[in-house]
Amino acid sequence: MLLKGKKVLLGVTGSIAAYKSAILTRLLVKEGAEVQIIMSTSALDFITPLTLATLSKGPVHHQFHDPKSGVWTNHVDLGLWADLFLIAPISANTLGKFANGICDNLLTATYLSARCPVMVAPAMDLDMYQHPSVKANLKKLKDFGNIILEAETGELASGLSGQGRLMEPEHILEYVISHFSKSQEFKGKKVLITSGPTQEAIDPVRFISNHSSGKMGSALADTFADQGAQVHLVLGKGAIKPDHASIKIYPVTSAEEMYQASSNIHHQMDICVFAAAVADYAPKNVSAEKIKKEGDGMTIELVKNIDIAYTLGKLKSPFQIHVGFALETENEEFYAKSKLEKKNFDLIVLNSMRDAGAGFQHDTNKVRIFTEEGKSFESELLPKNQIAELIIKEIKNLPVKI
Ligand code: PMT
Repeated sequence: MLLKGKKVLLGVTGSIAAYKSAILTRLLVKEGAEVQIIMSTSALDFITPLTLATLSKGPVHHQFHDPKSGVWTNHVDLGLWADLFLIAPISANTLGKFANGICDNLLTATYLSARCPVMVAPAMDLDMYQHPSVKANLKKLKDFGNIILEAETGELASGLSGQGRLMEPEHILEYVISHFSKSQEFKGKKVLITSGPTQEAIDPVRFISNHSSGKMGSALADTFADQGAQVHLVLGKGAIKPDHASIKIYPVTSAEEMYQASSNIHHQMDICVFAAAVADYAPKNVSAEKIKKEGDGMTIELVKNIDIAYTLGKLKSPFQIHVGFALETENEEFYAKSKLEKKNFDLIVLNSMRDAGAGFQHDTNKVRIFTEEGKSFESELLPKNQIAELIIKEIKNLPVKI
């Protein structure tokens, strides 16, 4: 009974996937959750309140007041009652209303007054899910701090095939359980994350850099913060910022600045994750003026940058955990394992440029994880926030006591 005592408010909207809310309700109740349900008016076309009331053993609401009894359903009370407001499935229509503060039914009014975490699981057809307005609305909800359970890929009711299926109820249940179990697991712990690219100036207008977007680092920062950690993010220029307001960001440009910011706080940290793509070399001399185009070629002399992970790895205490990344194009495992040892990491995350959808820029990643004690783990191609969860799960399994 992993959800015993937890109050889940389940929102159901008009979608063919609404039938899955019955299975989800049964799974939540089986795990001990107390469930109340709010249906949108169009959800009533797909599943009956009687089905959901029977399975939830609780009330099912769909209007502000019952015209027969005259009883008023207080959306504020519902929002305050819940430990989690889970909307599964959420249609493009309700998603649009949530994103824009439209409040024309009990479900949308409850969303605006809910103080608990909100989790939404979209379900819609292939092209609808890819539409820029739906993507923008999902991004808005994410920015509001809501948790998005991305639609799964497979056969759709329209006969098309692709991303848009409501996440399977069993998978939604896993997210709900992990949401409650992980809530405060890193409370009181300090985590340093380096993320994004570094830029090494050549002259006032040019620099050497790489394609890192900072998406992987920010996903890690958000996931650690979700679990109660105090996150310190040393962030390269132009890299994606995390959503969590509590994360302290140290903006930097060059590898030297990234090292200075990281080493200033390293001794206070419990966990350090080196996700940044740091330039290994920088121009020896930075021209004060823009270099003029002269001749058919030019040579820039480069000198080695400080290796942040290696340098701080030498200072690592037995009570600290260091996690590294490796981005390789060949002999991936060999290079990753050598970096694990050389840089004194407890765990290294290898992403390969050979895997489609993995590494730089993508919203997804596919990783192999190797630990210092010789364990390894391989992931599927997953959104970077799910990869962050997997990495953090492996960090929790390390023998080091922090
Ligand atoms: O930012 P995204 O677009 O989301 O892409 C994510 C990512 C691919 C950048 C990320 O997942 C990743 O792999 N980061 C490390 C890339 C890299 O530079 O790997 P490396 O093999 O060069 O470095 C090995 C480790 O040493 C890394 O942990 C790196 O942060 C660290 N390092 C490297 C050089 C240096 N001078 N200082 C360091 O700290």
